[in-house]
Amino acid sequence: MTEDKSYIIITYGCQMNDYDSGVMAGLLEAHGWRRVENEEEADLVIVNTCSVRTGAEQRAIGRITNINRIKKWRRPGMILCLAGCIAQQRGEEIATRFPFIDLVVGTRDFVNIPHLVEQVRASGNQIVAISNIHHPLELGVPHTIQKHPVRAEVTIIYGCNNFCSYCIVPYVRGREQSRPPEEILAEINSLVEQGYREIILLGQNVNAYNYNGVDFAGLLVRVNSIDGLWRIRFVTSHPKDTTPHLIETIASLDKVCENLHLPVQSGSNKILKRMNRKYTREYYLELIERVRARIPDAAISTDIIVGFPGETEDDFEQTLELVERVGFDSAFTFMYTPRPYTKASLEFEDDVPLAIKKERLKRLIELQIENSLKKNRALIGTKQEVLVEKSGRKGGNQLLGRTRGDKIVAFDGEKTMIGKLVNVKITDAFPHTLFGEIT
Ligand code: SAH
Ligand code: SF4
Ligand code: F3S
Repeated sequence: MTEDKSYIIITYGCQMNDYDSGVMAGLLEAHGWRRVENEEEADLVIVNTCSVRTGAEQRAIGRITNINRIKKWRRPGMILCLAGCIAQQRGEEIATRFPFIDLVVGTRDFVNIPHLVEQVRASGNQIVAISNIHHPLELGVPHTIQKHPVRAEVTIIYGCNNFCSYCIVPYVRGREQSRPPEEILAEINSLVEQGYREIILLGQNVNAYNYNGVDFAGLLVRVNSIDGLWRIRFVTSHPKDTTPHLIETIASLDKVCENLHLPVQSGSNKILKRMNRKYTREYYLELIERVRARIPDAAISTDIIVGFPGETEDDFEQTLELVERVGFDSAFTFMYTPRPYTKASLEFEDDVPLAIKKERLKRLIELQIENSLKKNRALIGTKQEVLVEKSGRKGGNQLLGRTRGDKIVAFDGEKTMIGKLVNVKITDAFPHTLFGEIT
């Protein structure tokens, strides 16, 4: 029967969750499941969740409660599954509290999804599958379903060993585990055969990649030699592990884009120390100089937390000053929220009032929008290599693509250009988009 095998996966959180959703989708489709566009048509709804900030967690729980209404009134046979980092962290508790959740799968267990769903169907019982976080993850070479038409994501390293004092990731994803290079290369080769031209290598800290002596730079060299692949990106790089050798390797490989995500988190040494980031403001600024000396066009993005415990106005101004000085191309900015298990939540009082966190966030965002606009306006008149991704929302002949610096460009062209490289002269710029003309 195919009619009772429709599924949808709703994904929250980081790109690594996107990737895991793609793995689940691939496994389900191999078992005869077919994807649908909304929950109302689905026999199986998987909510793949994130617990990195309180807000992300609340959104996911709210969504599950809403889906239960559909299940209750319109689709009583629906299987509702909670996956991802919240499932790993508090799956047992949530399963008890919400008996309408049929299946809970942890961050090690999602690879058994088709089998677990069948078990739920056969037994009619709630199943909670959460392995110990130290259990190794065996991915093999999965056939992933990518959400993007031209760009594909491939996780190269799972977990994190850094224990930044605010961060829950090491507790919900476990310790670092690098995938064998042969598996990664086989997966990328298969994606390239399917027509993907740009690959994003994923990890909470890709720089920590190491498999039997093959380090991240070594892996980049191997990926760079794949025929038919045009572009390589990677996220995230921890500043402390972005070595001169790695910068040299990035600069020397033609397919690796001039684009680095280097989360700074704060511009104050006092706060960086309390965050356990293992670098100073001076080190970070030098790192940026080193990157720019070797990769002059590098587009650099970052993550910043405001309102970390103990952050004074002076600490925050040091962050603003650093942001101004570096001139980031873009920044993801967050208000600190205490997370379970973390050192910051156990040892420091969340002492910056919400109103001040909000005010600092606003000032930071305003500064960053100005910076992004400055960076983008500097590209007006330049010629950029653009990988065409899709038609624009405006319709007509408008196409959207990305520069090597990961900037979105809108321009007019033929639909047949989708998936190809074109040269675009930049004619106008906004903080989040460029406009141009094909040359
Ligand atoms: N591994 C990456 C990113 C991890 S999570 C790194 O090392 O940078 C993505 C971002 O969420 C972090 O960079 C941080 O800025 C933010 N974040 C993590 N925990 C947070 C918390 N408790 N409160 C607010 N922001 C947080
Ligand atoms: Fe979290 Fe730090 Fe690891 Fe990033 S490096 S995932 S912020 S512990
Ligand atoms: Fe969130 Fe888990 Fe990623 S906590 S940021 S989905 S690793």
